[in-house]
Amino acid sequence: MPARIIGTGSALPKKAVSNGELEKLMDTTDEWIRSRTGIENRYIAVEETTTSMAVEAAKRALENAGIGAEELDLIIVGTISADMCFPSTACQLQDALSAVHATAFDINAACAGFLFGLTIAEAYMRAGMARTALVVGAETLSKMMDWNDRSTCVLFGDGAGAAVVRKDEIGIDGIVQGSDGARGSALVCENRLVNNPFIQNGNRIDYAKMDGQAVYKFAVKTVPQTITEVLEKTKTEAGQIKYFLLHQANIRIIESVAKKLNQPIEKFPTNLQECGNISAGSVPILLDFVNREGKLERGDKIVLAGFGAGLTWGAAVVTW
Ligand code: COA
Repeated sequence: MPARIIGTGSALPKKAVSNGELEKLMDTTDEWIRSRTGIENRYIAVEETTTSMAVEAAKRALENAGIGAEELDLIIVGTISADMCFPSTACQLQDALSAVHATAFDINAACAGFLFGLTIAEAYMRAGMARTALVVGAETLSKMMDWNDRSTCVLFGDGAGAAVVRKDEIGIDGIVQGSDGARGSALVCENRLVNNPFIQNGNRIDYAKMDGQAVYKFAVKTVPQTITEVLEKTKTEAGQIKYFLLHQANIRIIESVAKKLNQPIEKFPTNLQECGNISAGSVPILLDFVNREGKLERGDKIVLAGFGAGLTWGAAVVTW
């Protein structure tokens, strides 16, 4: 397989918001949030933006990889919370990095955004269209929350993660991905509605809405199936995997996946306790945490898996 992750980086907002702080803002409790989700804290953007965090994460990933931005020929940003409709976050990131040789674009695959970005980068390399790519997941979800809807706003946080991917003999052993638009209504956020001088409804801002139980059922069924599929595709036994790095939505989803795969929970590192759910940012931020803790050695096999709005999902077996 032709693509290897050679560097990671992440960036989080300065402002930490604990469950206790949310208790002061709305009718919720630390006990409810912790017992239903595992989340204890999240970081909320005040000075930061989706692009500024993408830039920070990308710089750290480039430094970790030991390469310069001019070596990048592809930049993909997975995001559902770009600062601007256009230009894309990826183009703004390209400018900030002076990555003058890169083609840059955003993708919207929600919480599977990083996995979809990795798939595209790998496919470009397989097609001979890129040698070095930057794949980023960056979100400012706090601006998309209805802060009066306690069932949703307590779950999410802001941040960005990035990985430098380079054409190589080993690395991404295999990826599977999928989508089911028919179930998309489980997790939605409207963009600008049709608005022009010829209609009456005007513009309004809407916020994220979620059928939590529908998303939960989707995740506990589809994630283990997808991981099993990618393990079979790559002829890998679950026992060979050192870490399963899953999208950080809910500790109960992760525990359920571990049980279904018959793997010890210790193989499933988490940071949702500290960071909450950062959609496309979750998987690359967790990967960066694990990498910087020195837990990955060359040759280790890991699984990355993302799932969320769309519905979308994806999983990869990666040799470090
Ligand atoms: N604090 C206190 N109470 C809350 C609350 C909060 N933040 N949010 C909801 N509640 C209340 C509800 O109003 C409801 O009260 P009622 O029984 O009086 O009507 C009660 O808690 C139970 O709500 P329910 O929605 O049935 O809880 P749940 O056990 O399904 O847990 C989720 C809710 C959201 C934690 C759970 O469904 C979940 O994790 N789903 C997956 C969501 C997810 O991961 N999405 C992102 C995927 S990318």
